[in-house]
Amino acid sequence: MRVFLYSDEQAASVEAARQVAALVRRKPAAVLGLATGGTPLALYKELIRQHGQEGLDFSGCTTFNLDEYAGLAPSHPMSYHHYMRENFFEGVNLPAERTNIPDGLAEDIPAHCADYEAKIHSAGGVDLQILGLGSDGHIGFNEPTSSLGSRTRFQTLTENTRTDNARYFASLEEVPRHAITMGIATILEAREIILLAFGAAKAAAVASMIEGPLAAMVPASALQLHPAVRVFLDEGAASLLTKKDYYRYLQQQCAGQ
Ligand code: PGA
Repeated sequence: MRVFLYSDEQAASVEAARQVAALVRRKPAAVLGLATGGTPLALYKELIRQHGQEGLDFSGCTTFNLDEYAGLAPSHPMSYHHYMRENFFEGVNLPAERTNIPDGLAEDIPAHCADYEAKIHSAGGVDLQILGLGSDGHIGFNEPTSSLGSRTRFQTLTENTRTDNARYFASLEEVPRHAITMGIATILEAREIILLAFGAAKAAAVASMIEGPLAAMVPASALQLHPAVRVFLDEGAASLLTKKDYYRYLQQQCAGQ
């Protein structure tokens, strides 16, 4: 894992967006794996800015979102369909037919999940997956103890995740109890991965992911198995890392190249 440390969320997000944009310029038909939540908002904002002001062109891209709440219609204001329209899709020129998000209302969920995996495969696989990180170490909605070999599937949310996400809902009671999520094995098949984490509430999960053992209790630690993961952190999220000097040294070397 390559770790990049920034003074704040904005600086980290702009650099992450620069790297996403570089891929899209290099490979106009790039397949992007997208995340939701508070973490990638500044990254999406910067990509929208580059689209508007610098002609960054998404017209050839295909996207696959990580997850969706089970039981929420795409029109529901808390659905990830709604989030993506509001925070990214409406600001860029992605063709709607090539944006993919699991359907929270799918009747046959196993068939829908198998179809989602098949779609990723027939699009050529994900070139670059963007990830946030749960305070319990989840990626997508792969909660602690998820199989490291898991594929897209129905998942029951932990109370920790429901409580964390209650800040986006009117009350904890309204937070769904289930989701459809890409699996850990699905995520690991992306050619490159960019994970963003901001704030001290993520510091313990960040330290376990990067410096702890590979463990199903910390789903993000599975990223240790992937050869091309870049982690973008602000000071709060990096605060419990023990090898910060080493990461800074590598980051300086990278900047000098
Ligand atoms: P957040 O969620 O970006 O809203 O903190 C991250 C996650 O749960 O993956």
